[in-house]
Amino acid sequence: MGIKRICCIGAGYVGAPTMAVIALKCPHIDITVVDIDIEKIKKWNGPIEYLPVYEPGLSEIILKTRDKNLFFSNEIENSIDNAEMIFIAVNTPTKLSGEGAGMAADLKYVESSAKTIAKSSKSDKIVVEKSTLPVRTAEKIKEILIKNNNSVNFEVLSNPEFLAEGTAIEDLFKSDRVLIGGDKTKSGLSAVQSLVNIYENWIPIDKILTVNVWSAELSKLASNAMLAQRISSINSLSALCEKTEADIEEVSKAIGMDQRIGTEFLKVSPGFGGSCFKKDILNLVYLCQHYGLNEVADYWKGVLKINDFQRSRIFNIVNTFIKKSNLKKEVSILGWAFKKNTNDSRESSSIYVANHFLKEDYIINIYDPKVNKEQIINDLILLGYQSDELNKKIKFFNSLDTIINLNCPILIMTEWDEFKNLNNEKSSIFDFRNILEKSNVTYRF
Ligand code: NAD
Ligand code: UGA
Repeated sequence: MGIKRICCIGAGYVGAPTMAVIALKCPHIDITVVDIDIEKIKKWNGPIEYLPVYEPGLSEIILKTRDKNLFFSNEIENSIDNAEMIFIAVNTPTKLSGEGAGMAADLKYVESSAKTIAKSSKSDKIVVEKSTLPVRTAEKIKEILIKNNNSVNFEVLSNPEFLAEGTAIEDLFKSDRVLIGGDKTKSGLSAVQSLVNIYENWIPIDKILTVNVWSAELSKLASNAMLAQRISSINSLSALCEKTEADIEEVSKAIGMDQRIGTEFLKVSPGFGGSCFKKDILNLVYLCQHYGLNEVADYWKGVLKINDFQRSRIFNIVNTFIKKSNLKKEVSILGWAFKKNTNDSRESSSIYVANHFLKEDYIINIYDPKVNKEQIINDLILLGYQSDELNKKIKFFNSLDTIINLNCPILIMTEWDEFKNLNNEKSSIFDFRNILEKSNVTYRF
């Protein structure tokens, strides 16, 4: 079937950029991105410089497609009923309460989306899982759809998203692969083909991989776990390098030159951040435990343990330096986003490192080119701080010039280009973007 109308539920970091690229590459398809968040939709429809997601190249695409074949709306039910294909791109955070709390993915937003789809649909729909989901979620979605509407046919596909923030548009233009899972029934195969036809508008067919639904769901969790595992591997070795005078940058280069290993995701860092690696590994661990695979669960838990270790190591390095040098308890943090070129700070290592300093009664100065004061305060409130307390202990800066002239150690936590040329001769600049290399008390990269 040639799809002409798409609805995407969820106008966040995945839903909006993904739909913007489909709209650009498929001018013959009308796409409506819907969200329960009224303010967010207002922003997507508002001035181009205040879009809710910052991604290089995104605003240019929005300018070309918005109100032509790309629409943002709060009219969820109508938009669903008007479409032939519905993408679910809602958030799937770690569950905070109930069975599996702290580990399993919270599927409440996915389940409520499925209910809304069922209740709004007066004709057959292809429902596409775009959110990252535990293996076998499609079964549950189908159950909800059928239970709430048995008068139309629903086909459920899994089409996980592999874009990384900061390079989302580039990634969507040139995906390493597009993964589509579907049933092997006649209607399942036809639904898969409809989605293949969309991607074929710009992705070479040999990069479009069609598999069964469960493989697609699990491959997404597994890919994120494998990427995070490489980071924890190199970060764990950075600790050993500091003890042995081996140079982690040299070690990383030497390892990566083995073509069987490859160079990507071997950059030493203050630990991986972002909304997905931690939650997806926790989800994987939970699934393994559910199936009684405790050894496998423990193996993946180790990746998270090293990530926490790296963050506390950073605090210890700087705290020891400050004590040894008899300095006042004050540090500056450059970079709050979890990586460069995004305004997203979810699970950023800066949050956890700041937490260590706050617990030890430090004053913290913070600057990030894209993350504002309100967001930083919210990130810390989530750890249990009160805003009054934070306003007393944290000073916020709007530019690099002012913060770097303060007389206290500086921690460079995000690899923003504007931090590249800082004077790294200064012994109190700790650059954690790439490398933790110890030479007396000076850390350099
Ligand atoms: P997000 O929080 O930025 O966006 C999700 C949006 O869904 C929010 O705006 C929320 O208001 C909306 N929403 C929730 N329930 C809704 C409902 N019932 N009806 C309408 N709207 C609803 O999340 P995100 O970062 O875009 O991630 C979405 C999914 O994609 C997650 O499963 C994530 O794991 C996965 N993913 C994320 C990335 C990434 O880089 N952020 C990459 C690949 C996959
Ligand atoms: C990651 C994956 O790369 C995407 O393929 C996936 O779609 C996405 O998660 C998801 O499911 O959400 P993202 O988290 O946006 O993308 O960004 P990454 O580039 O993977 O970086 C994640 C974290 O790892 C960042 O904090 C980054 O600084 C860190 N990192 C990355 C390292 O510490 N070292 C590296 O070598 C690479």
